[in-house]
Amino acid sequence: MNAKQAAGYRAAELVKEGMTVGLGTGSTAYYAIEKIGEMVASGLSIRAIATSKASEELAAKYNIPLVPAADVDRLDIAIDGADEVDPDMALIKGGGGALLREKLVAVQSDRFVVIADSGKRVERLGQFKLPIEIVPFCYEWTLRLLRSRYKVDIEMRMDGDKLYVTDNGNYIADAAFGRIESPGRLSDELKATTGVVEHGLFVGIADTVIIGYEDGRTEIIE
Ligand code: 5RP
Repeated sequence: MNAKQAAGYRAAELVKEGMTVGLGTGSTAYYAIEKIGEMVASGLSIRAIATSKASEELAAKYNIPLVPAADVDRLDIAIDGADEVDPDMALIKGGGGALLREKLVAVQSDRFVVIADSGKRVERLGQFKLPIEIVPFCYEWTLRLLRSRYKVDIEMRMDGDKLYVTDNGNYIADAAFGRIESPGRLSDELKATTGVVEHGLFVGIADTVIIGYEDGRTEIIE
């Protein structure tokens, strides 16, 4: 068992009969979905919402019943990975490009459980480039504004020789802050920027962090 698998499988144990579950995106969330799929195959009855087309396909493969958002008031739990986790449980997410749906699902969940291998723990956020989802219309202006305001390297995410397009039809700009002194303030500023749809800072959203280690151990931080 590797670290991502350990964290993912441990989180799946928190899923109980009758729950509505948010399914995250990425290589760590993959293991949680796999385990939940095994539990469903053994008779567990749940319903789920996935945070990306890729996770929808994975859920379908494991016969995890997906329901439309209109049928859901609150989710009992959401389980998702992260690119960085700081000591206050603030996160950078969106390495896989699913940050908007991930945040929508996370804030609608009674318990947001983050799963990560130990390499994702940092003292301060910002070494991982912060993904910022921006609308395609006039995206050059939004990019120019962000560059001039923050004076850090910000590059459009590419998919081969084309701009990367999210599941929501938007683009992503990846910002190399290096060190984010105040994640809360930056989060508010980005959120208030016209042209920015969402960003990968998750501040005050995580309830539980499960860290997985290469020897299969897990550590749970509440
Ligand atoms: C996708 C995400 C992922 O949760 C994050 O990138 C971590 O991915 P992985 O578990 O593959 O390391 O935010 O948008």
